[in-house]
Amino acid sequence: MYHYFAATEIYNAIRVFIAAYVWMTGFGNFSYYYIRKDFSVARFSQMMWRLNFFVAFCCIVLNNDYMLYYICPMHTLFTLMVYGALAIGNKYNEIRSVMILKIVACFLVVILVWEIPGVFYIVWSPFSFLLGYTDPAKPDLPRLHEWHFRSGLDRYIWIVGMIYAYLHPNVEKWMEKLEESDSKQRRIVKASVVSASVVAGYMWYEYIYKLDKVTYNKYHPYTSWIPITVYICLRNFSQHIRNYSLTLFAWLGKITLETYISQFHIWLRSDIPNAQPKWLLSFIPNYPMLNFMLTTAVYVLVSSISCVMSTLRTDKRA
Ligand SMILES: *[C@@H]1O[C@H](CO)[C@@H](O)[C@H](O)[C@H]1NC(C)=O
Ligand SMILES: *[C@@H]1O[C@H](CO)[C@@H](O)[C@H](O)[C@H]1NC(C)=O
Repeated sequence: MYHYFAATEIYNAIRVFIAAYVWMTGFGNFSYYYIRKDFSVARFSQMMWRLNFFVAFCCIVLNNDYMLYYICPMHTLFTLMVYGALAIGNKYNEIRSVMILKIVACFLVVILVWEIPGVFYIVWSPFSFLLGYTDPAKPDLPRLHEWHFRSGLDRYIWIVGMIYAYLHPNVEKWMEKLEESDSKQRRIVKASVVSASVVAGYMWYEYIYKLDKVTYNKYHPYTSWIPITVYICLRNFSQHIRNYSLTLFAWLGKITLETYISQFHIWLRSDIPNAQPKWLLSFIPNYPMLNFMLTTAVYVLVSSISCVMSTLRTDKRA
């Protein structure tokens, strides 16, 4: 919708939503591999297929580069990193100090590759054929610029997702205990958590969120955990609200990857390969709302069909 309505004024908010999405990559994959311990080739291939089937189809049919749909290489990379972090020496995952070491190692890898000038290009230039991209509107940028920019924005947040997933069982136990404790203590704890969150959220909004796009992007990798954490605290402080969720959002969440890809061709459109889509797809000229309704229906349908196709399984569990 941000792209459709060219809502540039909420650019920074969109960055946070994408960070939340990458946070979930860390959270979901960590929980899965930590609990299920299924590092098999079958499961791994299934995941890679799920992440890349539709994007490969679009690239081949439309003659686009993989990087045009940057969300796919980005999720693939961070999924691989979580997989690697948990799969290497997975016998020792139960030992707390090993897990802390692994998380520290993740931070060190990111610092090495993204923070030390030049290292990024040395590491990734062998993969230029896959991750290189030239926007026809900006032909002078280096081929790896887009990958550097996109992967850099959310380079830490998947690790934060892993940490939260690791702490989740303990926090949940602690919250159960809190719900059972006497009402005065409970109210004090909850009021402190809520006030701390509101103050932190406000400070972030005032000093970070309000920055212009270019400056904001500089701070984003180091600050996106703040709004996400504030959201989690406010979302969860009351047992009552915890019981509610929106089915529509839960359902749309399952096809996010597909909607992310197909927006370029169904809601939006471009005229040459690799171009960032600049126009809206128009079936019914002069009736923008009617056109929006129709393209949205096609858009959601195509996305959910391709989601089904990329999650087809050969085993009976499906
Ligand atoms: C791992 O992350 C990818 C990318 O976000 C996601 O599609 C997939 O569902 C995640 N896996 C699990 C088990 O949560
Ligand atoms: C927060 O609430 C959500 C929604 O009910 C739940 O899935 C999640 O486990 C909760 N988190 C914690 C730490 O209890």
